[in-house]
Amino acid sequence: MVSANVASVLLLGLGCLVLVSCEDQNGTSNGLNEPDFPTPEYIRPCNRSDPKIDSCFHETLRHIQPYLVKGIPELDLPPLEPLVIPELKMENGQGPVRVRAYFTNITAIGPGNFTFTKVRVNISAYRIDLHLAFPKIELQGDYDINGNVLLFPIQSHGDFWALFGDVEATARAQGVEVLRDGVRYMMISRLLIDFSLGRARFRVMDHLNGNNVIGQAMNQFLNQNAKEIIEEMRPAASISIAKHFKEFLNSAFGKLPLKVWMHDA
Ligand SMILES: *[C@@H]1O[C@H](CO)[C@@H](O)[C@H](O)[C@H]1NC(C)=O
Ligand SMILES: *[C@@H]1O[C@H](CO)[C@@H](O)[C@H](O)[C@H]1NC(C)=O
Ligand SMILES: *[C@@H]1O[C@H](CO)[C@@H](O)[C@H](O)[C@H]1NC(C)=O
Ligand SMILES: *[C@@H]1O[C@H](CO)[C@@H](O)[C@H](O)[C@H]1NC(C)=O
Ligand SMILES: *[C@@H]1O[C@H](CO)[C@@H](O)[C@H](O)[C@H]1NC(C)=O
Repeated sequence: MVSANVASVLLLGLGCLVLVSCEDQNGTSNGLNEPDFPTPEYIRPCNRSDPKIDSCFHETLRHIQPYLVKGIPELDLPPLEPLVIPELKMENGQGPVRVRAYFTNITAIGPGNFTFTKVRVNISAYRIDLHLAFPKIELQGDYDINGNVLLFPIQSHGDFWALFGDVEATARAQGVEVLRDGVRYMMISRLLIDFSLGRARFRVMDHLNGNNVIGQAMNQFLNQNAKEIIEEMRPAASISIAKHFKEFLNSAFGKLPLKVWMHDA
């Protein structure tokens, strides 16, 4: 009996250490020490128990969108308009397009001009599913591409321009709750992105081969096959884009206590 009690006290103590799930000296449960944080103007919080949490969170996102477009310096979020992506690497090792592509200094116009077409959130599971529609995204930057396209060997680098119209994207985020200094944060552990392009136009200017015959043939080839190449590269592009945005979002979520945007009520 006594030893059983000792064992349970020890177990409880161990639980406190491992799970941070016991009362601390301040009498708050779960090891939390969360003051009443001020609500920044760009946040419109929701309540966990809100039966209409999807539409509440939809409103939260609509509210923050213009701030995202301009950038939120205190969250280290650069502007979405224009969006500058220093580098994106993608590799596709199968199918008719087997290339390693490296894009740098990408500037995108239009990525801030989206609408959320569907928002689903399961806050107890920290799952957030978003559907977004972008009327138009114009991109330019530098590229370096190596590999084979339809057995045609490609080695090209230079600058590119692309115009994507009627882009529909889905983002499925899996979050985890983390505790830092007694404060809960939600971090994204997995982000899956997919997209479809209504229209795509593409232009590349090869610097390696300049204006010689090979260079011109390569340009023509890449341009004529732009849609197929993009479609083949879609999974690799989705992974690369998701990696970029996961880092981008976690830099913000790591500075924004969970309680600020999701009340426990
Ligand atoms: C108890 O709360 C006070 C004031 O909120 C805080 O300064 C202190 O660090 C807390 N102690 C613990 C053990 O969390
Ligand atoms: C959240 O709950 C509080 C208290 O019940 C309420 O005053 C507030 O309006 C709720 N917020 C939303 C967005 O539903
Ligand atoms: C990146 O692109 C911008 C505009 O396209 C250009 O002004 C800038 O010089 C480029 N930077 C680098 C490092 O190439
Ligand atoms: C944003 O989209 C609207 C139509 O949905 C369009 O009229 C407007 O020009 C777009 N703005 C930018 C910066 O692309
Ligand atoms: C949220 O996810 C959990 C775990 O997957 C599930 O049990 C629960 O039914 C979901 N809630 C809603 C409202 O979908």
